Amino acid sequence: MYSVAAYGDMIRDRGRMAAYLTALRHAIRPGASVADIGTGTGIMACLACLCGADRVYAIEPSSAIEPARAIARANGLGERIHFIEKMSTSVTLPERVDVIVSDLRGVLPLLQHHVPSIIDARRRFLKPNGVLVPRRDVVRIAVASAPDLYERHVTPWERNDYGLDMRAVSRIETNAWRKCRARADHVLLPPQSLPALDYETVETANLAGELRWEVAAAGEAHGLVGWFDADLGHDVTFTNAPGAPELIYGQAFFPWSRPVTLLIGDAVSVSLRAILVGEDYVWTWDTRVVDATTGETRADFHQSSFFGAPLSPATLARRSADHVPTLNEDGRLDRLILELLDEHAPLGRIADEVFAKFPGRLATREAALARVADLSTRYGD
Ligand SMILES: C[S@@+](CC[C@H](N)C(=O)[O-])C[C@H]1O[C@@H](n2cnc3c(N)ncnc32)[C@H](O)[C@@H]1O
Repeated sequence: MYSVAAYGDMIRDRGRMAAYLTALRHAIRPGASVADIGTGTGIMACLACLCGADRVYAIEPSSAIEPARAIARANGLGERIHFIEKMSTSVTLPERVDVIVSDLRGVLPLLQHHVPSIIDARRRFLKPNGVLVPRRDVVRIAVASAPDLYERHVTPWERNDYGLDMRAVSRIETNAWRKCRARADHVLLPPQSLPALDYETVETANLAGELRWEVAAAGEAHGLVGWFDADLGHDVTFTNAPGAPELIYGQAFFPWSRPVTLLIGDAVSVSLRAILVGEDYVWTWDTRVVDATTGETRADFHQSSFFGAPLSPATLARRSADHVPTLNEDGRLDRLILELLDEHAPLGRIADEVFAKFPGRLATREAALARVADLSTRYGD
């Protein structure tokens, strides 16, 4: 869920906006129909109208759609933009459209359900010769010499001012990637590409690639830097490469388990995988560094964001397939709310009933109503 300020930051990113506007100008013919997946505060829907779209379906599940509606009205576009307050995957449109525009990416295009949402929208919303903006993204990975970026992952776990041994967290931290602002001089070995995410043909949310370098410039390496090059169609492109004009996306830093001194001729190989599990991706990056002269393996790291979350054995046990839970008081309370919602009772009446039945669990009747409203928003239509 983005704040209004975050949507403002996206619009303030002139590089991103200029690329999208140019791409929309090329893609939209007068009278065209457009679907804007994840309209947020409505910027792409409005631009599509300015580029000549006759009607735009602006889809957004979050409350940002309310200011989007006001913005459309304030600009005389209220009749042409049809707002739909849902996830695109639960929407049925009255027609197939000429253009689908979206920017559901994060630091990398593999963010939550971005790719499955585009696959679904392409299949169900787009005309046979319709246009997707963006058309494709290519994730690029370089080996980085970046002591400053690495520091954030090991401080304070390996060094702190209090004489405490906190290395238990180092393993967690070096298995998590983070957004960073990488500079051109962080790139030690040049970028290589993962298979392109071609939105016109992609059929899977997952991405994997095998990357290899022969070291041409010696130096201390700390991990991988990742970004994406975007192709919005009609030769409109942008890149988040370190050293390129800064865009909102930034770069991703995947730390290695420890820094490695690379010597000229060394072979570095990385196997990188992003697998969508539930709501977000599990990233795995396996690295091998082989000494060119002796053939000796000098680094062999197996890292994964799966190990980057502090999971206690008790938490894992509670999620295992053979665990048999008993419903706690919160569960019984929510079950009652869902049963009453299913009987089509008004929210106020449900709040009264659960407040009476669970007086110790809900401090006030207002708290009961808030809880009922939360569940109703999530599961009700
Ligand atoms: C990065 S923001 C982009 C906002 C705006 N389109 C822009 O380009 O400035 C992505 C928005 O997409 C929404 N979103 C993500 N997946 C979606 C989906 N499948 N259907 C509709 N909205 C979605 C999010 O709630 C968020 O508001």
